[in-house]
Amino acid sequence: MATDPGRRVIVTVDGPAGSGKSTLAKRLARRADLQYLESGAFYRAAAWLATRAEADLTDPEWLAALLAANPLQVKPKKHGFYLAVAGRDLTQDLRLPQISHNASVVAQLRPVRQWVLSHLRALGATGGLVAEGRDMGSRVFPEAEVKIYLDASLAERAHRRWLELQAQGNDISEDQVRRDLAQRDRRDQERQEDPLLVPEGAHVLDSTRSDPEQMEEICFRLIQPYL
Ligand code: DC
Repeated sequence: MATDPGRRVIVTVDGPAGSGKSTLAKRLARRADLQYLESGAFYRAAAWLATRAEADLTDPEWLAALLAANPLQVKPKKHGFYLAVAGRDLTQDLRLPQISHNASVVAQLRPVRQWVLSHLRALGATGGLVAEGRDMGSRVFPEAEVKIYLDASLAERAHRRWLELQAQGNDISEDQVRRDLAQRDRRDQERQEDPLLVPEGAHVLDSTRSDPEQMEEICFRLIQPYL
């Protein structure tokens, strides 16, 4: 894919849920003065629409029609974007456990992935992004200058996610979080459409024993030559 000479850098950060990729991507975006693009939010927005409509989450045609009938508004904010439908800001709702679950179900369907892909590519046309997700380096932005794949052990990822949910007042056991996460990993890795994998040319890092500052330092050095 030819790269527009006027386009700014694209950095991709992929990895499983709870690997710390959101924290890393946000930190890099702030430090390098780039936009943070959270692709999972688009799958969550599709799940939000489907959940609200009480749709059959496995019916691709129905979901395609639903997405076409409900335009998503993508509004830039400092170092990122927020998503709205008919003027309603979705930020709070997108993190609900039911939406997390449903997002990993609808993300398996081709029309949903196409819908997200076209939003993401449009936002990436001029570059200047840190794009975070499962298939940013492999599918959405294969031309990215820097690709990072961040991993961590299941136990550590579940612990982090549990702390996050506790802080938001969600009373759920750590064991349950670990089971949910293992199930989501399986769905993400085994799906036919754009499964979670290490993109070609990616820098593979493990965050199990590193803190966010260390990860940021290592990755910032990788992107600095392109700024
Ligand atoms: O990163 P997240 O937890 O917000 O993602 C929510 C769901 O969306 C996740 O279960 C898988 C899906 N997803 C995807 O399939 N591809 C991406 N690039 C990002 C997220």
